[in-house]
Amino acid sequence: MIDSKITQTVWENIGVWWDDKVGDGDAFHRTFIFPIIKRLIEIEKGQKILDLGCGNGSLIRELYSENVDFLGIDFSSSLLDKAKERTPHVQFELGDLTDDNLYQNLKNRGPWDSILCSMVLHDCPDLKPLSENISRLLRIDGEFIFSIPHPCFNMPLYMSLVHKDGKLIADGGTITLTGYSQSQHFVGKGKPNQPIEHHNFHRPIGTLLKTFFDQGLVLTAYEEPVLRDLEHNYLTPENLWSKLSEFPPALICKFKRIK
Ligand SMILES: C[S@@+](CC[C@H](N)C(=O)[O-])C[C@H]1O[C@@H](n2cnc3c(N)ncnc32)[C@H](O)[C@@H]1O
Repeated sequence: MIDSKITQTVWENIGVWWDDKVGDGDAFHRTFIFPIIKRLIEIEKGQKILDLGCGNGSLIRELYSENVDFLGIDFSSSLLDKAKERTPHVQFELGDLTDDNLYQNLKNRGPWDSILCSMVLHDCPDLKPLSENISRLLRIDGEFIFSIPHPCFNMPLYMSLVHKDGKLIADGGTITLTGYSQSQHFVGKGKPNQPIEHHNFHRPIGTLLKTFFDQGLVLTAYEEPVLRDLEHNYLTPENLWSKLSEFPPALICKFKRIK
């Protein structure tokens, strides 16, 4: 079993490289992630928003409003340093989402109106501590929004085939899909030329959603953004997802705590 000490070491080591690539959100985030989260999130003046696995803080910068209280949590101090450097007006703290001890402290500072977890769940070997605590951290009617590389159209393909073997087997609008139905661990590159491969934990969509349903959360939005339908496309024509415009590379879900 890969534990989070191992995944943390990788994120510590690639933090500076990742920040340089992502900046205030790369083309993928700007095309497929930010617009959807901005449409789904219900932010009001005076509210408290927690961004779990905040990386260099790009999502917080995208959503920022001075009337809202943001807190970003990540276990990579190299990425948190970049988050603080780029966003000195927001609070960022070190914390491991797979560690139960993180959540008591966050609970004492809640309840939270909105909890975000963007492109992180697939990095976590164990989702139990996170899923068991989401409801406890949220106010009633509060929301939890996650985005993730699409477990069907992106994860197995992207991680194991495109970058690892350097082959583009997704071409001409066709995806050859392998290994969807089992939860499994991959090591691979999240971005081309990434200097160190990182760990990814693939879960079929049903398994992933059940993790949160079992905690009483109710799914209120399920988004599979497809290039064709989006208002802005920041991708270059060479980008894999420009070639696969019929397929959603990300899945974005919103849940509510109803009791
Ligand atoms: C793909 S990046 C996404 C970062 C940011 N949310 C974004 O969308 O740009 C994954 C982030 O999750 C963080 N992460 C992964 N596993 C974590 C864990 N167990 N606890 C805290 N942070 C974690 C990594 O350090 C990294 O910043």
